[in-house]
Amino acid sequence: MNNVPQHVSIIMDGNGRWAKARGKERVYGHVAGVESVRACTEAAVEAGVKYLSLYAFSEENWNRPEAEVNRLMELMMEAIHNEVKTLLDNGVRFVVLGNRARLSASLNAAIDALMEKTAACARMTLIVFLSYSGQWDILQAVKKAAAEKGPEGVQAMTADDFAGYLVTAGIPDPDLLIRTSGEQRISNYLLWQCAYTEFVFSDVLWPDFRKPEFRAALETYAGRDRRYGKVK
Ligand code: FPP
Repeated sequence: MNNVPQHVSIIMDGNGRWAKARGKERVYGHVAGVESVRACTEAAVEAGVKYLSLYAFSEENWNRPEAEVNRLMELMMEAIHNEVKTLLDNGVRFVVLGNRARLSASLNAAIDALMEKTAACARMTLIVFLSYSGQWDILQAVKKAAAEKGPEGVQAMTADDFAGYLVTAGIPDPDLLIRTSGEQRISNYLLWQCAYTEFVFSDVLWPDFRKPEFRAALETYAGRDRRYGKVK
């Protein structure tokens, strides 16, 4: 495939509607959504994508009913335990980014263990955004930069310097952002990092978004003309 994006990011949306359409609880959609995570991770590795990032849980998602929040955290824990071997076999480095202070001690420990185990994997990096929001990220970066550099240092900062304080420091900005389920909004995701990202919106609900849909989004991206505000 030509013109493969280096970094693909996905807002996985539509699990609840998928479950409702089947007369099931919302969590049933999240369980099915984990299969889509696996399928898209495989498809990304196969296509030669270097970074795949997933918006798994936003800062705002803490306001969902407690039972749903708990089940999502359990699913994350189960996925971490179930996928160790697959990640290692496929050379996938696992990274979690977000407001980790809000996660339970046991989940944080499991995340740290998997991040350490896969730290040397170099084929692709899978980033899971957990308890993340773009505004939170920008704000924590401002506070960290101010504490480290002081007012004069902050005044002298460039955009590149500032990006080094975001939780995504060192990770290239997404080339392609996919949002499923027909919604067309950014929902407080990677606000700074998506300055020049190409967006692809799919009507398919996340539990139905598998390899063919992922590959179709890469094809759409391959046909885009990126100008970064310049004239070609
Ligand atoms: C959006 O659907 C989906 C989520 C908020 C959760 C995504 C989580 C997973 C797929 C499971 C765990 C992830 C990993 C990385 C193992 P929604 O509930 O907002 O659906 P709706 O818009 O139809 O209500």
